[in-house]
Amino acid sequence: MKKIAIMTAGGDCAGLNSAIKTVVMSAINKGIVVVGIVDGFIGFVERKYIVLDKKTVENIETEGGTILGSSNKECPFHYPSKENKGMFEDRVKDSIKALKDIGVEGLIVIGGDGTLDSARVIHENGMPTVGIPKTIDNDMVASNPTIGFETAVENAVLAIRKLKTTAYSHRRVIVVEMMGRTSGYLTLYSGFAAGADIILLPEIDYNLNVVCKKVEEIMTSSKRYVIIAVSEASKESGKSETISRVIEDSFEQKRYGGIAAKLSEQIEKITGFESRPMVLGHLQRGGEPCSADIVLAAKLANSALNLLINNESGVIVGASNDVIKKISFPKKREARLLDLNTNEVYLTAKDMGVCFGN
Ligand code: F6P
Repeated sequence: MKKIAIMTAGGDCAGLNSAIKTVVMSAINKGIVVVGIVDGFIGFVERKYIVLDKKTVENIETEGGTILGSSNKECPFHYPSKENKGMFEDRVKDSIKALKDIGVEGLIVIGGDGTLDSARVIHENGMPTVGIPKTIDNDMVASNPTIGFETAVENAVLAIRKLKTTAYSHRRVIVVEMMGRTSGYLTLYSGFAAGADIILLPEIDYNLNVVCKKVEEIMTSSKRYVIIAVSEASKESGKSETISRVIEDSFEQKRYGGIAAKLSEQIEKITGFESRPMVLGHLQRGGEPCSADIVLAAKLANSALNLLINNESGVIVGASNDVIKKISFPKKREARLLDLNTNEVYLTAKDMGVCFGN
């Protein structure tokens, strides 16, 4: 193999640059040229390529985001047509041909479920492809943890610690909304590590009365404030999720948002205690990666490169208890949610009296 390409797509996270750097450094040391595809599947379809040399990746492992850019909307087999507005086209075959025309023999795609589903289609259409899983949501079957999760937890914990001091001063309830889509990993791990009193997860529908009773119990005890960590896709029993927007041409069409504002208002009204909502949003995805993400991304990237070189493609490389494993590209999306019967963080928090709203 003389030339490969690499791309990042889907929502960004910390650790992507470490994966890019590893592929570039290891490939160049093996005499392989690495082409970077810019802006995810936009660059794949519209032939936006750059050559990545050692200079381009110098020190990037400590930087957040991705030097290649990303997009979490475009899909190469359902790509907006330039000629016919509002129509979509399958651009996989001609995009593969364009890469092959410049000598690319294999592709590494770093992304979440939607991205890696497109990677599967690219592989099936004749470009040997290996996937690397990343997402702050930690909801992929291929890896636990995924690249970006540990950093997002750290980012959220630092933010909640700051909220605790102001909540204390003002004797307030602060409702902190976390990302993570339908998986509660990010909210559970950061809520627990930051000492949240109430943690509301998408895996458990909450009862508003139970939440308010807990708030009253804490606010009338010696503690002056309450921190509630709530997942963006959490919902009250019998009610539906809070959706902020729907993006039609996106793999994951729903964007969640608004639960903290709603819940905060309800709590203040029912309990009489002053409450404020706080949406952590993209702060959880941004900033420099923690060491665990730098190391995880590097290990997975090196493994992906070696598989590609050894003609083992059509797979995703992931981590499980520090061991690198590979699985074939799955045919259908299956988000990995929290297993509440076995998850030790959940079971520990429950034993310690953290309220899960049920
Ligand atoms: O999947 C990653 C994620 O950050 C989710 O946690 C969140 O719901 C979504 O992406 C936000 O997407 P966008 O960046 O399009 O607002």
